[in-house]
Amino acid sequence: MKLQQADLDYFARGTWQNPQFWRRFGGQPDFDGARVLDVGCGHGSMVIYIARAGAAKTVGLDLNCELIAFANANLAQNYPDLAPRVTFRCQDLRDYPEDAAFDYIISKDSFEHIIDLRGMLQEMKKRLRPGGRIYAGFGPLYNSPFGDHDYTKSRIPWRHLMLGEEMLVARVNHRWKTDHIHSLHDLGLNGLSLAEYERIFAESGLKIVDFRPNSSEKLVSKLFALPARFRPLREYFTFNIYIVLEKPAR
Ligand SMILES: C[S@@+](CC[C@H](N)C(=O)[O-])C[C@H]1O[C@@H](n2cnc3c(N)ncnc32)[C@H](O)[C@@H]1O
Repeated sequence: MKLQQADLDYFARGTWQNPQFWRRFGGQPDFDGARVLDVGCGHGSMVIYIARAGAAKTVGLDLNCELIAFANANLAQNYPDLAPRVTFRCQDLRDYPEDAAFDYIISKDSFEHIIDLRGMLQEMKKRLRPGGRIYAGFGPLYNSPFGDHDYTKSRIPWRHLMLGEEMLVARVNHRWKTDHIHSLHDLGLNGLSLAEYERIFAESGLKIVDFRPNSSEKLVSKLFALPARFRPLREYFTFNIYIVLEKPAR
């Protein structure tokens, strides 16, 4: 398979995005000898990063088979030394063996796209060893200024919330000259609010080890710190979440 330049460029963004992801948690775990799963791995950049950090086994899963085809070809062509320790699969986590016992499950910029996040957390929990951890960093959250992932094509903050789901979807269909988009879910966005995420995490049966809203080195993080302190505004001034969840020992 010939690797497309656009995919290679996207993959290369990991060079700065992966270290940034871990800085937003305050540091990365020791991956030496670890078994690691990346859910929503996309082009596979984080998987390669973790394998290079010494993980014994690293698996990347994604529902987008084209991205997994790229990840596998890129692995074979550019990282053959890592191939014995790396697997990419176009597969739903529900179809992955339950006795996997991963030390870490990673998810970068994907939780806001996972439609049944509540169910996904249970599937992740089944595949973690006791004491194993999930590291998930994601955003923008739907109720934040640009939480529509630019589907509205507006520079006006919160414009998508003013429009509402129906009008947003109508705009997208008009622009794309389609009629099959009926909801945010069809656009690959779960549309969850901050409050809903918090409830899902609290009810997951996983221990919340760390919860960092608005974790970023960008100025916006400082600007939003004050309004995000006030309960009615928090929902609209929280643009991302970096969370660590742990499977209880029993
Ligand atoms: C914004 S991309 C992020 C990809 C990659 N982690 C990165 O940082 O470049 C979100 C990815 O999540 C994947 N995704 C969405 N729902 C998923 C699910 N239920 N299981 C696995 N992957 C999923 C999408 O196919 C997409 O590749």
